Amino acid sequence: MTPRDPRTPLVSAVDVTKHFIMTESFLARRLGGAATRRTRAVDGVTLDIFRGQTVGLVGESGCGKSTFGRTLVGLTEPTSGQVFYEGSAVWGRDRLGRGELKDKAQIIFQNPYSSLNPRYTVRRIVGTALAARGVKPADGERETQSLVRRVGLAPDHLDRYPHQLSGGQRQRVGIARALAMRPQFIVADEPLSSLDVSVQAQIIGLLQDLQREYGLSYLLISHDLRVVYYMSDTVAVMYRGQIVESAPAEELFARPSHPYTQQLLSAIPGSGHRLSRRSSRQTRALGPNGAGARASASGEEHEQRRGCGFAHRCPNAARMCATEYPVLAPLSKYSDPCPGVAVGVGPSADPDSTSPHLVRCHRECGSQ
Ligand SMILES: Nc1ncnc2c1ncn2[C@@H]1O[C@H](COP(=O)(O)OP(=O)(O)O)[C@@H](O)[C@H]1O
Ligand code: SF4
Ligand SMILES: [Mg+2]
Repeated sequence: MTPRDPRTPLVSAVDVTKHFIMTESFLARRLGGAATRRTRAVDGVTLDIFRGQTVGLVGESGCGKSTFGRTLVGLTEPTSGQVFYEGSAVWGRDRLGRGELKDKAQIIFQNPYSSLNPRYTVRRIVGTALAARGVKPADGERETQSLVRRVGLAPDHLDRYPHQLSGGQRQRVGIARALAMRPQFIVADEPLSSLDVSVQAQIIGLLQDLQREYGLSYLLISHDLRVVYYMSDTVAVMYRGQIVESAPAEELFARPSHPYTQQLLSAIPGSGHRLSRRSSRQTRALGPNGAGARASASGEEHEQRRGCGFAHRCPNAARMCATEYPVLAPLSKYSDPCPGVAVGVGPSADPDSTSPHLVRCHRECGSQ
């Protein structure tokens, strides 16, 4: 395959894990606990993102979304696994150089205020990013003005400091700074969470326009399923560091099949998955499994695990769920809906297709 082959993912995470080892408090140790505690923030995630596509990553707070996003852009080194940009490794001995990676991948954060240098004006924030890309100062000013205009700010914003801007304007500066590197891929980590609803709509519109204009790919991290449904081609649902379900957005919201996804959807005020979509773009055409998570070929199955990590919260748990570890696998074409499931679960849409709808659940994958 050539790097430009549309079936080659732009970004590919293969069995990525990130474990944090924390030293326990003095008191906890005195009470007989272990000296350290291991947090499996990301626990074997395999996922593809294609050029020009948006993969939405959802899950409750603390499930590992940001940590995973940071491994993709070179900010957090995985404990194991690898990330590839068009086949080039991001981590390890033969990794891409820091500059090469910045040219490809950028991140925009939930709280633009804390990620912008408070002592720099907008001009200097964007200009510094351009300088890092190697743009000469003579061209930098022109490009700074053009970028600031492109993200919807006025020329007089150039000389303002972050504290003199609104939340939406600060997020626009964060986007301009990311664009200054001319990335192909942006991790947008809860980019709307700190904004008013009306401003959220503007930033969504801006991100979509930029995607069309520059062919950008996004990993959109959000706990807001409406936003994810509206913007994403494919959605991956994360629980305790693992992908528990992944499918094209339409499919996932029509047939949420993991009990955790069903709980997330049923928690949307005004019920659920009757949400609006920006387009009916299909991801199935790209690659044998489309974008989104992939069942791991190795790795997670090698580790001896006991039971399903969601069993203590699952209304459908059966005896085997306590002892047998469910792997991420295609939704069974023939499985019956789980008892007690509230929303549209059913057999997979096309029994002849290679379904990109993956679920980590014994009951949904036909092993029971
Ligand atoms: N630098 C760190 N050191 C130790 N633990 C961390 C660190 N970053 C994240 N964690 C832990 O990893 C888990 C996942 O965190 P995070 O990726 O921020 O989740 P999310 O973005 O889904 O809210 C949490 O339990 C969090 O406390
Ligand atoms: S494997 Fe069992 S406990 Fe886990 S989500 Fe499926 S039904 Fe529930
Ligand atoms: Mg986060």
